[in-house]
Amino acid sequence: MDRIKLRRAIARTPLAPVAAFPKRLRTIARYDAKVLRSSVRWLVKSREHHNYTYDLTPLSRNHLAWFVSVICDIPVKQVRAYLDEIESDDTLRQHLLAAIAESDRRRLADKEIRYARRIGWYAIVRAARPKHVVETGVDKGLGSVVLAAALLRNAAEGHPGRVTSLDINPEAGYLARVAPWSEVVDLVIGDSLASIAALDRPVDLFLHDSDHRTAHERREFDAVEPKLAPGAILLTDNVTITNVLAQHAESTGRRFLAFRETPANHWYPGDGIGVAW
Ligand SMILES: C[S@@+](CC[C@H](N)C(=O)[O-])C[C@H]1O[C@@H](n2cnc3c(N)ncnc32)[C@H](O)[C@@H]1O
Repeated sequence: MDRIKLRRAIARTPLAPVAAFPKRLRTIARYDAKVLRSSVRWLVKSREHHNYTYDLTPLSRNHLAWFVSVICDIPVKQVRAYLDEIESDDTLRQHLLAAIAESDRRRLADKEIRYARRIGWYAIVRAARPKHVVETGVDKGLGSVVLAAALLRNAAEGHPGRVTSLDINPEAGYLARVAPWSEVVDLVIGDSLASIAALDRPVDLFLHDSDHRTAHERREFDAVEPKLAPGAILLTDNVTITNVLAQHAESTGRRFLAFRETPANHWYPGDGIGVAW
């Protein structure tokens, strides 16, 4: 009996799981070794301890371009041009490098500027041209400054807009406190639910990225609903963890899609963008 026939014969016997064990072990060992290598590289090279930054793999970036293309109903070429635009914005990059170098948190930040899925937020703002963006959860302000960069480009093309960035931490947002980006950013310190309740202008684009507990995320979408402008877009950064935005979309008659990013050269499995529109 040749080897293939022998293998097929064993696969039909009670010995099949035992015979398959070495192959299964090799598969999982290869996978774990890859994760271990990138974890060790990250432990040695990176200084970040939360809200990690990384680039997307080329495939993930391409999927993100198609994702935005569908949501905003624009050609994928246009989305790719927006992604290139933010990634090649050297003025912004230099500002971020300088602001990080001057910050007293610099020892917990990396010197490379990598936006991860935020390039998708940028492209959505460029395509949708919102007058008022609200972002809950600011941290250092990387997302706020990316949103501001998109709003400044929109303004230069005759479509001005502002972003209200909400965080409970008074130290949040230092990357977004420098002109020209700060000129379109309103940083509001306080609990996001109270800050959403106090919003006095219609919201065209809302992004949840604060307290990621399910109940808080749900409360944010409920609180912002009466504040939304017609045709508003809702985003969540929590889409790989909860089903909150999908449920909200269903109960309010919107469409919903989710994108899951793949970080390049990182142990972290990545987050995503959930959109209801
Ligand atoms: C994941 S970080 C935000 C990341 C940011 N959007 C970015 O692009 O880098 C989460 C932030 O939410 C803030 N946060 C947590 N609970 C909050 C609440 N109840 N209201 C407002 N902000 C909150 C935290 O202080 C933290 O800065």
